[in-house]
Amino acid sequence: MQRACSPAPDGHILITGASSGLGAALAEYYAARHMQLSLLGRDRSRLGSVAASCTSLGGRVTTDLCDVRDAEAMGATLAAIDDRAAVTVLIANAGIGGNAALSPATGELREAAHDLVETNFLGLINTVSPMLPRFVKRRFGHVVLISSLAGYSGLPQAPIYSASKAAVRIYGQGLRRMLRPAGVGVTIVCPGFIDTPMSASLPMSRPFLVPRDEAARRVAKAIERRAAEVAFPWPLALASRLDRWLPHAVGDRLMSALTSLGDRR
Ligand SMILES: NC(=O)c1ccc[n+]([C@@H]2O[C@H](COP(=O)([O-])OP(=O)(O)OC[C@H]3O[C@@H](n4cnc5c(N)ncnc54)[C@H](OP(=O)(O)O)[C@@H]3O)[C@@H](O)[C@H]2O)c1
Repeated sequence: MQRACSPAPDGHILITGASSGLGAALAEYYAARHMQLSLLGRDRSRLGSVAASCTSLGGRVTTDLCDVRDAEAMGATLAAIDDRAAVTVLIANAGIGGNAALSPATGELREAAHDLVETNFLGLINTVSPMLPRFVKRRFGHVVLISSLAGYSGLPQAPIYSASKAAVRIYGQGLRRMLRPAGVGVTIVCPGFIDTPMSASLPMSRPFLVPRDEAARRVAKAIERRAAEVAFPWPLALASRLDRWLPHAVGDRLMSALTSLGDRR
């Protein structure tokens, strides 16, 4: 497994999409280890309750409300946070998916498709880009990109979601190679189903569902060991990766069979 060479992920952790699901679980994981946390989200009340829980666990927490689609606001918010205390680990986690990402049989409607790409890919760029010159100048920092197993293999129910997560994965791969000489690390995270409000909104069963705290622990451990990439749970990770090597007709049948297993639409 490839390793990046950034310093230990201690210090100051910034998480987008911290008001729910995986982001909230990561915030609580690091709070219990008394880290300094900058938590971003859009929903004031949910972000406030995650911050309160993190404070009670021993974390030092600040919060900022920001929409990742707003490049200017993200740039200003991240600069202000980093000026207060240098960020050491940036976790670009905010995203949309679940039921909102399911496509009608005739293909995604334009507005929904644009929203997916603007949030999951451009929103992630808006999160990472402002921090890169700072990390490179300091010659430390670790960038964590939350992609998905859907980024390995186009899902028949959600082509645009899959494409947005594939873009994140390939962007992360290039970024890792670009930043290595500067001593800045990149970890790409490709989970299957995690038990969060996003996946709970799906009208289908969620095979090999991973509890959100377990997912946060796996992500944190991957950051700790500077993993280039982490994909879980293994049966789904294996099937998604296998799809790349199979003849198209076989891969198409495999993925359709796998993803229609629990389809209750
Ligand atoms: N759950 C899964 O099975 C699964 C599997 C693979 C990958 N993932 C990825 O994991 C990440 C977290 O997902 P989750 O399951 O934890 O979902 P979730 O519970 O729905 O949480 C999504 C988070 O993203 C934030 N967010 C969404 N749109 C935003 C925007 N425009 N600007 C700022 N923040 C925004 C939300 O903030 P507000 O609520 O404040 O708006 C929320 O904090 C996503 O990137 C998702 O694609 C999830």
